[in-house]
Formats: sequence, C-alpha cells, structure tokens
Amino acid sequence: MTSRLEGRTALVTGSTGGIGVAIARVLAAEGAHVLVSGRDTARGEKVAAGLAEAGGRATFLRADLTTGAAVRELAGAAEHAADGALDILVNNAALLSAPKPTGELSDEEIDALLAVNIKAPMLLTGLLAPGMAARGSGAIVNLGSINGLDGMAGSALYSTTKAAVHSLTKSWAAEYGPAGVRVNTIAPGPTLTERFADSAPIRELVATVPSRRASAPEEIAGAVLFLVSDDALNIHGTTLSVDGGYSAVRSVRTA
Ligand SMILES: NC(=O)c1ccc[n+]([C@@H]2O[C@H](COP(=O)([O-])OP(=O)(O)OC[C@H]3O[C@@H](n4cnc5c(N)ncnc54)[C@H](OP(=O)(O)O)[C@@H]3O)[C@@H](O)[C@H]2O)c1
Repeated sequence: MTSRLEGRTALVTGSTGGIGVAIARVLAAEGAHVLVSGRDTARGEKVAAGLAEAGGRATFLRADLTTGAAVRELAGAAEHAADGALDILVNNAALLSAPKPTGELSDEEIDALLAVNIKAPMLLTGLLAPGMAARGSGAIVNLGSINGLDGMAGSALYSTTKAAVHSLTKSWAAEYGPAGVRVNTIAPGPTLTERFADSAPIRELVATVPSRRASAPEEIAGAVLFLVSDDALNIHGTTLSVDGGYSAVRSVRTA
C-alpha cells in the first residue's frame, strides 16, 4: 500500500462489479476510505471485505440508482460515512445495453438508461459537489466511453448517455472548478470485464486499434487514480481516452 489518498474518502458508484471493483481496489490501496456501492448486497459486501483484507478501508452502501429518492439517500449515506467531508466521487455505474435498432427500444429501456446513466450522476454530483466546493477541494471522475465520441449503429441510446456524461464533465468543470473541485472524464475503449469476456466482435474491434488489445479494468482504474490524485491538480474538464488508441485513429479506420 502507498498513501497518495490517505485521509480521503471516495464514493465509487457501480463498484460491486466490472471496472468499478478495480477502481475501488486502486483507490483503497492508495489509502482512501472507499465507499463501495451498487444494487447487489452480496457482491458489494464481498468487494468491501476484500478491500479490508488487503489492508484497506471500505464501507458498502447499497443503492439502486434508478430513482431520484435512492440517489439522494446514497448521497446522504456517503456524506455520513465520510464524516461530512467526501473528497472523491467516481460516477462509474451505468447500464450497458445490447446493440439494438432505435425503433426497437422500449420506453422502459430508454427511461432506465437515462435514469441510471445521466440523471443519477447529475443528481449525485449536484448533491455532493457543493460540499467539496465549500471545503475548497474535491475530485470527480465520470466514466464516459468511446461510444460517446462516435456514431455507432445500434448504440444510439447508450452512446447518447455517454455523450451526455462527456458534456456534463465540461459543464461541471466550469461550475465547480473555480471552487477547487476538479471534474474529468475517462473514456474507456473495450475493457475486459466479466461482462465483456474475450469475444469475436471484441477481437475484431481491437485488431484495428494501435495497441491491438482491449484494456484491463486495472488500466482504467489507474487513469482514475491519476485524475483524482494531486498529480492532476491543474487538470479540469478533460476527457482522457483509455482505449489503446481507438479514438486517435478512428477517422483512418472508417475511411
Ligand atoms: N466495459 C467496457 O468495455 C466499457 C467501455 C466503455 C465505457 N465503460 C463504462 O465504464 C463504466 C463501468 O462499466 P462496466 O463495464 O464495469 O459495467 P458492469 O460490469 O456492467 O458494471 C456496472 C456496475 O454498475 C452497477 N449498476 C448497474 N445498474 C445500477 C443501478 N441501477 N444502480 C446502482 N448500480 C448499478 C452494477 O452493480 P449492481 O449490479 O450491483 O447494481 C455494477 O457494479 C460504465 O460507466 C460504462 O459505461 C465500460
């Protein structure tokens, strides 16, 4: 364990699985008290216990971010767990939808993705950033996506929610930056979580990018750590792509 985040408390939404677990591990290993969150209590408690066993400090806060009431409850619980001084917020939780023609999207799917991927981070940030601003420091990282940068057939809904996250980052940098709160986005490319096990479509996609491989969740987590750490103290409102070069060469790829 090193101690770049000693004495700080970090809420990581969606840290019961996938990339969020890796983010929680990296922040805890740097000394942060990590507030693990998600809907699944069994997985959340297991992640928190694993962090503690590794010598870190972690608390599981269950939340289903589908409703505004639940988001407000999570914000209150996080402030309480942080003794009124939350330092870091990672808006990582999201619903990832399978590719589908726009006309086949149901009202329920549209409402769910807009609620979890846009409304929840918007409410959570609006509830927690003012406290950081009042204390003169804080760091927020939003998880965007390469899908939020480009048009992709079958991905209109999910991509729109991620483009909104990129936009929110810039607005929040303008809104909270002057008070010392830094807001940035990580835009991952294909990342090999348990959900995205190595598959033919992923292999085809990564064969076209400079690194010729997908990211490991730990590589996304390392970029989050950089952005919340004091190494990034004058970085505000940026989108950091962690995609093996995907976004850098996309015009060549689609030519
Ligand atoms: N994996 C990739 O290739 C990739 C690429 C680009 C961007 N991203 C972005 O990276 C982030 C993490 O993605 P991932 O691949 O790790 O996703 P994942 O494996 O599906 O994990 C999503 C996390 O969000 C939580 N979550 C989902 N719905 C929720 C809800 N209604 N309320 C509270 N928590 C909820 C899940 O926990 P529970 O099930 O316990 O609720 C889980 O911990 C997302 O923002 C995603 O858009 C991922």
